[in-house]
Amino acid sequence: MINVAVLGYGTVGSGVYEVLVKNKESIAKRVGDEINVKYVLDLRDFPGDPVQEVLVHDFDTIVNDPEVDIVAEAMGGLEPAYTFAKKTLESGKSYCTSNKELVAKYGPELLELAKSKGKNFLFEASVGGGIPIIRPLNQSLTADELTEITGILNGTTNFILSKMAKEGSSFDAVLKEAQNLGYAERNPAADVEGYDACRKIAILSSLAYGCHVDFEDIYTEGITKITDIDFKYAKKLGLSIKLFGKSKKVDDKCYAMVAPFMIDSDNPLYSVNGVLNGILVKGDVIGDVMFYGAGAGKLPTASAVVADIVDEAKHLHTNIMTIWSNKKLALENLSTLKNKFFVRFDGSVDSKMSEVTKAFGDVKVVTVEGLDNEFAVITEVMTEAEFEAAAAKVNGVKSRIRVEA
Ligand code: NDP
Ligand code: HSE
Repeated sequence: MINVAVLGYGTVGSGVYEVLVKNKESIAKRVGDEINVKYVLDLRDFPGDPVQEVLVHDFDTIVNDPEVDIVAEAMGGLEPAYTFAKKTLESGKSYCTSNKELVAKYGPELLELAKSKGKNFLFEASVGGGIPIIRPLNQSLTADELTEITGILNGTTNFILSKMAKEGSSFDAVLKEAQNLGYAERNPAADVEGYDACRKIAILSSLAYGCHVDFEDIYTEGITKITDIDFKYAKKLGLSIKLFGKSKKVDDKCYAMVAPFMIDSDNPLYSVNGVLNGILVKGDVIGDVMFYGAGAGKLPTASAVVADIVDEAKHLHTNIMTIWSNKKLALENLSTLKNKFFVRFDGSVDSKMSEVTKAFGDVKVVTVEGLDNEFAVITEVMTEAEFEAAAAKVNGVKSRIRVEA
């Protein structure tokens, strides 16, 4: 029998417990041994819930129990998660987590510690909820030089954007719905301001390029400035608006960013709606490969955590090698990165167009019936620096969204 402890009995932790109980037999067949949940740690009690039988409030009970082999964390936040992860690995147990904050900040250190102990630190659920993406990067795409990752990496914001586009719902109402469904972070600013997607693209890029991409170096823009009017233009243009986490390696240079993008229906990520996430990875051998599935939610995320528990149970005394060097990858300034831009202007087309053409050159003009005294254009492909310079020459720029070129 292999004993497991689950830290945190919230959305994800309760899902992990439920899956380990519900699929006990099939999981035992896959592992070749029974997985037993010996402890669940939480701050609260859960009267009437069977979990109460294994519930503890003191982490030391878990870390000091030599019968516990694997600790799965779903508490979130940096502390005490970091301390618990270190103590677990130092005590010779394996650790897995859905906590991207922890992984983005301490990934290389915890991987190194796990390796030195012949144990494992796994984090499949930290990116893309239930979608297998960490394991494929580590184990399946190893023949390739990976050059580019573009992902819809946050379920909450994709849920919000999809509902705003399809149903014209208000931002605040859909955010509330996402929170009720258990998709959002405890502080939803992490979702809507793009910080969660930023940590996820940092994790994926670090694994893909083999160096440490520091999330604090990544340019990050969320979805709070996207309005119902942007969706009116997008509908007219046949485009959808998605929050992308992107990174790209060009020779020795690496670019990374999080920002809303307008994309057309030829883009494979166009139809990724609701809480679903989609991740496109480009390799020099495989070409494009796409990963798609539920990016948040209790059971999909629990599926990924339990898969890590199974992997750790199958490798109780063997470290699964993960390449994520401590060496920091310096990110390039975005000023030379090229895109088209969707730009909204105050004023009428007649009164403004000569000024706009002078600054931006050839542009495609868009107007929407009922939107008086404003219009929009889509520029030709230009660098970020060229865009900033052109925008500074025109009065009345209301907003801009990048358009995937
Ligand atoms: P929840 O807030 O629903 O659950 C966290 C649980 O951990 C709560 O029950 C909380 O108790 C408990 N907890 C917090 N601190 C401690 C502590 N010091 N000791 C014991 N228990 C503690 O969060 P989620 O389940 O949604 O998320 C957990 C992690 O998984 C986060 O890192 C999140 O980013 C990540 N994740 C979440 C996904 C989702 O869809 N929800 C998907 C993928 C990853 P209390 O409520 O009393 O504070
Ligand atoms: N809040 C996150 C999201 C949870 O909405 O994607 C999954 O990481």
